[in-house]
This record gives sequence, C-alpha cells and structure tokens, in this order.
Amino acid sequence: MRAADIAGDLSEVLYTEERIHARIAELCRAIEADYAARPPLLVGVLKGAVMVMADLARELRLPVEMDWMAVSSYGRGTVSSGVVRIVKDLDVDLHGRHVLIVEDIVDSGLTLNWLRENLASRNPASLEICALLRKPEAAKVEVDVRYVGFDIPNAFVVGYGLDYAERYRNLRDIGILAPHVYA
Ligand code: IMP
Repeated sequence: MRAADIAGDLSEVLYTEERIHARIAELCRAIEADYAARPPLLVGVLKGAVMVMADLARELRLPVEMDWMAVSSYGRGTVSSGVVRIVKDLDVDLHGRHVLIVEDIVDSGLTLNWLRENLASRNPASLEICALLRKPEAAKVEVDVRYVGFDIPNAFVVGYGLDYAERYRNLRDIGILAPHVYA
C-alpha cells in the first residue's frame, strides 16, 4: 500500500519508495566494495527488517547468504524497553563468518547493542551493522553502525517493514505516524 491509501494516519511522508530504493542502491555499492573478497552472511531481525533485507539482498551484486533472528522487545508501545528476548535464533553457526546485521531502525540503540554483543560472542570473523534508519537524538547507547540509510528526527515512523501494533508494515513509503493514531 501507498501513503495515499492511509493518508490520515501519517503526519508526514519522510521517504518515498523510490528514495528508499535509491539509497539502498548506494549502500549496496559501499557494501560490495567492502565485501568483494569475503561474501557476507546477512542477518536480518524479524519482522521489521524483512523489506530492507529483501531489497538490499537483491540489489547486492555479490553472493550472500541470509539468516534470520526474531527478538522481542516487549509491548505494543512506541518506546523501546531495551529488554530483549530471543524468540527465534539463527540456524547458521557464525564461527569464521563475515556477518552483516541488517536492521530497519536504530532508535535507542539498546536492541542492536544487545544483538551485536550476542553475535560477537559467537566468534564471527567480522561483524558490522547496516541500518536503514537511525534516530541520533534518541540514542541511549552508542552503536557503531557502518552503513546508515537515513538519519531521521526523533519521531515514531512506520512503513517499509516498520509497524505500530503490527500495522503499516506493508506501506511502501516511510512516514511519521500521526499522534491521533496512538493517542
Ligand atoms: P531500539 O530503541 O534501538 O532498541 O529499537 C528497538 C526496536 O524498536 C526497533 O528494532 C524497531 O523494531 C522498534 N522501533 C524503534 N523506533 C521505531 C519507530 O519509529 N517505528 C517503528 N518501530 C520502531
């Protein structure tokens, strides 16, 4: 669905589908340069990273493998708790692998910080992060994100995999959720 289909639910469209795809292509050129000699294992975090993973993996002109983790940050709210639980672990052994975590958004950074430490303890040959969105003003911990799509304001956004109470993941664009939706 497109922003026009739910226009009243968004206070602003931040990035159209076209803009997102163009930025992902740029990120892919950088990733290709860095990983030419060592094909990466892309690790996606369900469910939010599904869209960015699908588009990033197909845009990359490199052989890649994909694996998935599901972690839960509790609740339906719009603020991250930082309490993380593994709901589904990876199938692949990370030992000696060049791991690139693919994430939708870095908000407080708590989830990614936890994930990075968890995956680092499994002895990958290298470990980097690619996140489509980052909210610099919301950072509670500094996470070293090697590939960032867009730095965005500290607002709650939906679309392109990102949800509010499981809605809006199938929106092609990314927009700021209007406060009346969650008030
Ligand atoms: P953290 O605050 O960086 O730990 O973010 C944890 C998770 O909260 C992210 O992976 C998203 O799933 C979710 N999240 C954070 N900010 C937003 C947002 O603006 N829209 C939708 N989900 C978000």
